[in-house]
Amino acid sequence: MSPPADGPGFPRFPDGFLFGAATAAYQIEGAHDEDGRTPSVWDTYCREPGRVADGATGDVACDHYHRYREDVVLLRDLGVDTYRFSIAWPRVQPDGTGPGNPKGLDFYDRLTDELLAAGIAPAATLYHWDLPQTLEDRGGWRVRETAGRFADYTRILADRLGDRIGRWITLNEPFCSSFAGYGSGSHAPGAREGRGALAAAHHLLVGHGLAVRVLREAGAPDVGITLNPDVLLPATDSDADRDAVRRAQTVHNDVFLDPLLAGHYPEHERETWGGLADGSYRRDGDLELIGAPLDFVGINYYRPITVSDVPFRDPDPATRTAVDIRAEESWCDGVRRTTMGWPVVPGAFTDLLTGLRRRYPGLPPLLITENGSAEDDRADGDGQIRDADRVAYLRDHLAALADAMEQGVDVRGYYVWSLLDNFEWARGYSKRFGIVRVDYDTLERTPKDSYRWYRDLITDHRDRTPAQEQPHR
Ligand code: FCB
Repeated sequence: MSPPADGPGFPRFPDGFLFGAATAAYQIEGAHDEDGRTPSVWDTYCREPGRVADGATGDVACDHYHRYREDVVLLRDLGVDTYRFSIAWPRVQPDGTGPGNPKGLDFYDRLTDELLAAGIAPAATLYHWDLPQTLEDRGGWRVRETAGRFADYTRILADRLGDRIGRWITLNEPFCSSFAGYGSGSHAPGAREGRGALAAAHHLLVGHGLAVRVLREAGAPDVGITLNPDVLLPATDSDADRDAVRRAQTVHNDVFLDPLLAGHYPEHERETWGGLADGSYRRDGDLELIGAPLDFVGINYYRPITVSDVPFRDPDPATRTAVDIRAEESWCDGVRRTTMGWPVVPGAFTDLLTGLRRRYPGLPPLLITENGSAEDDRADGDGQIRDADRVAYLRDHLAALADAMEQGVDVRGYYVWSLLDNFEWARGYSKRFGIVRVDYDTLERTPKDSYRWYRDLITDHRDRTPAQEQPHR
């Protein structure tokens, strides 16, 4: 165990370790119909009654599209080495096919230059869930063709930005794009189809493989994917709950990690999905494509999950996916929960990382591409947000990360989620993850205590890093 996490300088990370902050396009940009941008599946989903809390949309969000300069100043003053943002596919290729949209591309061009001028290395996510609606209308991720479209879109970006962006993340959390988007329907496009979700998971991985190929051809030096593998524990010792964990493990983790890192499809897919896992959406050569070597794997971690066996909620066999295994977040009684209802268990973060290393001997270096907490922030009389709970969350999770690194896990950097309060998907604006507060009436940005704490941690780390060893970011 590491010593208690007191001051900002704790814990000590190795020289060259990268500190960053993360956001995603639909959650912050706004300008939903400007300069040629077309609707994404999330624009459509937000307009369907009852889908998103308070009927919220990303139409304006944080208005980052117009205020990106101000946001880059916040990043510069924070002192981060790197900034992870995502590129909105319907902004740069509005039809989801064909040529790029010059005005959309110009925006990411300006943002990239602004970041570089501030000494911040851009890390671009190509797909953070905002599929052009035009492609959804043609089947979305259920159909293989979308993977090919994704490769074309990637080529447009590699051509335009590849000279200045070194780090590329193909997909963010394909678990959510497939099982939440096409299985439980809790994310856009809101479908509830067992087979559709399985096909989507596979086609997303094919799209990833094709995008990696395009980026390699373009000479990109640092290419990876971001996943959200889970630490899963049975709610009780019963055989039924243990079996449920194995099925949940297949859905949450193995379906992505095994093809990407071990060259095979998940072992328990028949047990998990029965006849739905017929593999009819697979082609010869897919595993080689999906399993091409990566420079890093991005890990998003927030909380552990407890799994219990519950009867399938939907009797229709077509929707009998393992998403019907209820993933209750009741890790253990007595731990604090964030306003998402998520239990705060930093030790599970260490377990996740050491477990990945054990299970996948060829695991590439890791980047923590998201970690953070939604809290009930309130401004004090002086307008300051003293978000002590978020500071404690970040401190304890960084300590847990350092523990994993001491145990031999190769982690190269950490991105806090999120720079700004933003549109939290189906929860709308009701959940605040930012280290900077956004007033949604005035769009004014106010750094919180957590912003200052993180800035001091970065400064302290840099002061201890000999100048001649400053990292290539
Ligand atoms: C992750 C998403 C990110 C954000 C956090 C809280 O699943 O990748 O966009 O919403 O959760």
